Amino acid sequence: MKATNITWHMNHVKRDEREKLLNQNGFTIWLTGLPSSGKSTTAFTLEHALIQRGRLAYVLDGDNIRHGLNKNLGFFANDREENIRRIGEVSILFADAGIITITSFISPYRQDRDLARKGHAEKNLPFIEIFVDTPIEICEERDPKGLYKKARTGELKGFTGVDDPYEPPVNPDFVIRTEKKSPEILSLEIIDYLSSNNLLKV
Ligand code: ADX
Repeated sequence: MKATNITWHMNHVKRDEREKLLNQNGFTIWLTGLPSSGKSTTAFTLEHALIQRGRLAYVLDGDNIRHGLNKNLGFFANDREENIRRIGEVSILFADAGIITITSFISPYRQDRDLARKGHAEKNLPFIEIFVDTPIEICEERDPKGLYKKARTGELKGFTGVDDPYEPPVNPDFVIRTEKKSPEILSLEIIDYLSSNNLLKV
């Protein structure tokens, strides 16, 4: 923390008033997985499915956020750490606003994801870590942006899964396999999981 002489102002409106207004509870669904594992496709399909069910949901997507808020960050370890720290904080703000927040970032380092989880716990906000567990061979076969290919030839350095680490979650809340089921089916399964954990108020 660099700033001094700053004081915390309490909102006049409490979270439960916003949640009552929206008729839902705010929380974060955190998708993590290798590049091309299917995080963004799942995130946007899930967002759509939730909106169709009358829930306010919003995706924070890695590629998109790197066009704006995080456009000053690259892919060295410290930049990835800062990328995830900021998204951890932004998702806390969104969830506190009452929104079902879906994050779609590789988020390769376990420690950074754990910090995001801790931040949510401190604010009493649920945090659901979903491991998009697609085998690297499948991700590499998909390779829609041709980045695995560039990483294999050495044209692109420090690519996650090739020459930069991906640390899978040890104890994820939910695991999906995008090579076996469609994004629509996976979204329904996630929604079932949320309902059975009392996260979707009727
Ligand atoms: S993270 O590692 O910091 O969580 P993030 O999800 O924001 O990554 O961004 C990943 C996206 O950046 C990928 O979809 C890919 O298109 C692009 N990208 C460019 N360079 C790299 C790299 N070296 N490693 C991983 N992804 C990269």
